[in-house]
Amino acid sequence: MFKVVNTLKHDLVIVGAGLAGQAAALEARERGADVAVVSKVHPVRSHSGAAQGGINAAIKPDDNWKDHMFDTVKGSAYLADQDAVRILCSEAPNAIWWLDGFGAPFTRQEDGTLAQRPFGGQRRNRTCHVADHTGHNLLHTLYEQMIRLGIRVYEEWFVTRLLVSERKFVGLLAIDLLKGEMSLIQARACILATGGAARIFGQSSNALINTGDGVSLAYRAGLPIEDMEFFQIHPTGLLNGILMTEGCRGEGAYLINAEGERFMKNYAPQFMELAPRDQVSRAIQTEINEGRGFEGSYVHLDLRHLGEEKIMSRLPQIREIALYFAGVDPVTTPVPIRPTAHYTMGGVDVDTDCKTEVEGLYAAGECACVSVHGANRLGGNSLLETIVFGRRAGINAAGSLKDAAQGDVPQDLVSSDEHRLAEMLGRESGESIAELRKEMEDVVRENFGLFKNEEGMTKGRERLRKLRERAGNVLIPDKGRIFNQSLVNALQLEAMLDVARVLAEGAIRRQESRGGHYRTDYPKMDNENFHHHTIIRLGADGEPEFSTKAVVVEDIPIEAEVKY
Ligand code: FUM
Repeated sequence: MFKVVNTLKHDLVIVGAGLAGQAAALEARERGADVAVVSKVHPVRSHSGAAQGGINAAIKPDDNWKDHMFDTVKGSAYLADQDAVRILCSEAPNAIWWLDGFGAPFTRQEDGTLAQRPFGGQRRNRTCHVADHTGHNLLHTLYEQMIRLGIRVYEEWFVTRLLVSERKFVGLLAIDLLKGEMSLIQARACILATGGAARIFGQSSNALINTGDGVSLAYRAGLPIEDMEFFQIHPTGLLNGILMTEGCRGEGAYLINAEGERFMKNYAPQFMELAPRDQVSRAIQTEINEGRGFEGSYVHLDLRHLGEEKIMSRLPQIREIALYFAGVDPVTTPVPIRPTAHYTMGGVDVDTDCKTEVEGLYAAGECACVSVHGANRLGGNSLLETIVFGRRAGINAAGSLKDAAQGDVPQDLVSSDEHRLAEMLGRESGESIAELRKEMEDVVRENFGLFKNEEGMTKGRERLRKLRERAGNVLIPDKGRIFNQSLVNALQLEAMLDVARVLAEGAIRRQESRGGHYRTDYPKMDNENFHHHTIIRLGADGEPEFSTKAVVVEDIPIEAEVKY
């Protein structure tokens, strides 16, 4: 049914067309590489477009990148690699001027300089923004440049397999969803930039497309996956999960419980609502769990004192979202919120040049773990990572081409993928994709959410193992080839189950609490035994294999706890 009908050849193939993928494509194209981008959606529908609050850079005279680095390392609960954070923060101003040079419409102050708002866990106002739709504008800004440079985009193509031969990248297989045709794309280098996986939690601030495809492709190709137990639960989502940007609190909004109390004073008296996200999310959930939330399990995000003018100029999208999706006008009424799954701190293990351990294969952005976020990402550092490390991946991949020969494509890998898809589509009965997905989301949310413990996680892992077995027998009701969304759903389900399993393995073994990973049975950070990265790879027996990797520490000392 799905047989390779085309062989396409490029120097470099980039999987994913969000900010990291596009930044990489632009840099590689500028260096003369024949670049192709493959994306399961149109580039401007990538999830980077949902980023609201902004992008960090120390660009003001009272700020400097070393302070940004310090805040990032502390916010990461000391798990970020300091060599990577040094690159992130020292390159940040340059990233802003690169975007500004392309015409990114950053919000400005009266004197024409860029406006910067405070964001959580940072001692300066360093979050540049385009009102509250920063990602959307940056994505369109870069896409204009993609068009200017005539970069080839295979849009609405779904990658089913990475082809790796003798530890070297040689190509990939992808389905053109519109035509229902499978192609082999041969290339000498590849960058994975497929974004995050927070959809495994079901309710999430993430787009439906954030199903961890890149992590799963890499995992199945035998690559190490790093620190997947660290998922960020954002403090302020609407009750359906949609994001209310941290920019609300950056502009001065309060968090209020059902007793009318600004409760953050009891958790982070100095930083209050602008403590790092892991701490604010746990505080909100604690208020709810201990009975100080409102009926229906939420607290209030109160923006009323900011006034209509400020809300309309700085947070216009937030007002629209609150009106449409919660039926409240933040100008006059507090917004019901609670924590929502938001960001994947872990990902494909890469070095600071974005290289994986497979020759010619790179990763950047949310699907990669470089690691600049450690156990907890600071708001505004994800857009920054996409630009700094997306560009870096593009530059390095393009630079590698001069010495790279095209490797032979192993026909057995191609055939096995054709057979896999034929077998999936040929099945006449089987499990419901939607039911398995719902059950996986419940397992992840209930056992691997804000508060974890051994018993829940062990049961959760067993359920995930069974779900994976059942997912090998799903029914794809649509037997056609054109836009077979059932097939895509089945492939995405498999990817999410891979991610969830890797998360479970790391989380069970990490017997401490650090950043976004909080265990009620081990509530303290334990540097002596757990100040290391988690590495999980697929073993020869099809089961996850666990190991650890040292954290890179330079000049910022590791503290015993993270206090705000
Ligand atoms: O709250 C936000 O606007 C999200 C920003 C981020 O995740 O960096």
